[in-house]
Amino acid sequence: MTETAPVSDEAGTFTFPQPRTCPYQPPAGYEPLREQGPLTKVTLYDGQQAWLVTRHADARELMTDTRLSSERSSDGFPIITPRLLDARGFRTLVTMDGAEHSMYRRMLIPDFTIKRTRAMRPDVERIVDECVDRLLASTPPVDLIQGFASELSSRVVFELLGVPQEDQAFFFARSAQLLQATDTKQSEGPLADLVDYLDRLVASRGEAEGTWLLDRLAGEEVEKGELDRGDLVRMAIQLLVTGQGTTAQMIALGTATLLEHPDQMEVLRKDPSGVPAAVEELLRYLTIADMAGLRVVTEDIELHGQVIPAGSGIILPFALLNHDPEVYPDPHRFDVTRAPGQHFAFGFGPHNCIAQGLARLELEVTFRSLLERIPTLRLDVPLSELRVREAADMQGVYELPVRW
Ligand code: HEM
Repeated sequence: MTETAPVSDEAGTFTFPQPRTCPYQPPAGYEPLREQGPLTKVTLYDGQQAWLVTRHADARELMTDTRLSSERSSDGFPIITPRLLDARGFRTLVTMDGAEHSMYRRMLIPDFTIKRTRAMRPDVERIVDECVDRLLASTPPVDLIQGFASELSSRVVFELLGVPQEDQAFFFARSAQLLQATDTKQSEGPLADLVDYLDRLVASRGEAEGTWLLDRLAGEEVEKGELDRGDLVRMAIQLLVTGQGTTAQMIALGTATLLEHPDQMEVLRKDPSGVPAAVEELLRYLTIADMAGLRVVTEDIELHGQVIPAGSGIILPFALLNHDPEVYPDPHRFDVTRAPGQHFAFGFGPHNCIAQGLARLELEVTFRSLLERIPTLRLDVPLSELRVREAADMQGVYELPVRW
């Protein structure tokens, strides 16, 4: 753990998010926060206060409690960064509740079943193989994010959506611009191009042979009148944005973590059948979506004798919960043989990550391939020299230069 002191405001309340200094460890301020007890008040950047939950067992109950809402535009929803304020009006699956959420989620589910994910294995293996070929053909040092992980994770989402092969370069360029945009102004152009392209793709359904998710939804739901074309395009954009950035960062940070723990990497080299368990430990240990557990309380809730009034913001910091020593002995140790347990890397409850099976498959195939095909892979600069992503963003780095 890094030794930075936890940050508090003038009244002595902890601020949230807490600053990060290590690319792969949770903020140093999380342990003092845990010591405050199961429930602590924190102050957000705009002075608003929210309740922060520190125990794994409490969070498991709360995440399925229907008195918690994901509706970002509700008063009291914990807005942890101005960026979230800009995105408040963009309605997606993650921001919906109840019947509306179930309706959209039900439409997407057929493309994320275990059977469907299994059927994608050969495609994922081919994409990983081709991306490793390209990486090996380039001249080191290479940034593992731009030179490998982004393309890989994008191509898996394109495959899932059914973006035709010949359009993937255009789609990749625009979605990369969208993901790299730092404000709404920068994202407007690429977003408009993607919306326009997807709209045409959905309209031309039937001509584009072999398309998957988009094809099915355009056929089943748009024609039935359950979904309009605009909704479908918005869902596709959400899958693209959430699916790309997260998996790419997990590949980069997972690789960095393995390289920083050569003894653990050796365990996997000797017995690659341990890779799925290692993926689970990496998901827990890194918890890149630490900031996803934000909710607003719609009716009073009592927890450990404390009433959390309706209209309060509530924060379930997934990385803090995934390092709860009651559930994970010696939680800051990275151990690829650890029993997986029920971690929060993909959330929990009605909003749990719909694509977690696919993400696991992608990570397993990628780490297996990197271990086997690039045994001399190493970091080109010490991890401590890399710029860590800002506190309210996902856990990670902006680039990861490697050699082999
Ligand atoms: C390792 C990679 C990934 C991680 C760590 C991750 C993490 C998460 C987390 C924590 C949530 C819950 C959000 C909440 O509780 O509000 C979530 C939801 C979601 N994820 Fe993922 N995700 C990953 C990959 C993907 C991929 C590849 C896709 C799409 C292809 C995807 C699509 C979604 C969607 C649509 C939701 C919203 C589900 C709902 O609200 O019902 N994710 N993800």
